[in-house]
Amino acid sequence: MMQLPRLKDAASARKVLRRAFELGVDHFDTAHFYAGGVANTYLAEELGSEQGVVIVTKVGARPPKRGPMPMVPAQRPEELRQEVLDNLRSLRTDRPDVVNMRRIAPGTYPLTPKQKVDFDDQMAEMVAMREEGLIGAIGLSAVSLTELRRALPLGVVCVQNQYSLTSRKQEEVLDLCRAEGIAWAPFFPLGGAFPGSAKVVHEPVVQEIARELGATPMQVGLAWLLHHADNALLIPGTTSVAHLEQNVAAGAIKLDDQAMANLDTVNPVGGIRGFVSRLRS
Ligand SMILES: NC(=O)c1ccc[n+]([C@@H]2O[C@H](COP(=O)([O-])OP(=O)(O)OC[C@H]3O[C@@H](n4cnc5c(N)ncnc54)[C@H](OP(=O)(O)O)[C@@H]3O)[C@@H](O)[C@H]2O)c1
Repeated sequence: MMQLPRLKDAASARKVLRRAFELGVDHFDTAHFYAGGVANTYLAEELGSEQGVVIVTKVGARPPKRGPMPMVPAQRPEELRQEVLDNLRSLRTDRPDVVNMRRIAPGTYPLTPKQKVDFDDQMAEMVAMREEGLIGAIGLSAVSLTELRRALPLGVVCVQNQYSLTSRKQEEVLDLCRAEGIAWAPFFPLGGAFPGSAKVVHEPVVQEIARELGATPMQVGLAWLLHHADNALLIPGTTSVAHLEQNVAAGAIKLDDQAMANLDTVNPVGGIRGFVSRLRS
């Protein structure tokens, strides 16, 4: 399982995709709004005809006019529908296996009045599209516990919230997913690539355990997620075949109870706030 690489160039992106498939990766996380549909196009061209590949795409935003960030919210039901249609086109499919609705709740992001959309209205559109056969199954991203509870009767197969060893505010959402048999595909599983985010590899205990096991700190961070949540599906982003190979190999790393207990002592809410307070201290 992996997330699509950020696109340095077409050839290296395709190499990462092909190598992932060769290594047995069968779950690819993408979005039409990544690189304006280019990520989807590479995925469709490289792996679209392979059997057993599950594509999970995402709606709820559109790309900014320039550069990769920040994403522009596109939360309205009619926008979600248009984004699904865009994904069908760039993925060259009649029906993506799973579509995550990336929720941007009022109060969590600067939203124009039009983008402050009721969660139930969004879910009604997602369910309608599933009934029409436009999407295989519904996933959710960046949802609260309350929202997930509201969506459960409608059928949710996966949740993609921010979560890693250094960012564990979403523990209750994870618990509910575990109890309901919903896959947990956290974003920023390594802490994220943004400057200032609390990177798992910077934690001394992670580095120490990596040394003891002859593994890399990244691998220890991924192994912790797999040991902590048996419903975890990992989507570490990478542009590098070497990193991809290390990340896949993390699946074989065994962490004993002592290692898990030591890792659990890491500040669970590092995030940017934790990073700033560490700088101040
Ligand atoms: N639903 C949402 O709102 C949302 C938001 C953000 C992200 N996501 C998804 O979640 C995925 C993961 O997020 P992310 O990629 O930003 O963060 P991440 O997976 O936590 O970290 C990726 C960073 O780690 C590096 N990396 C990966 N494997 C490595 C290894 N073995 N050794 C050293 N460095 C390694 C990557 O660099 P290299 O390229 O050099 O390997 C990249 O800089 C994304 O790709 C994204 O699409 C979803």
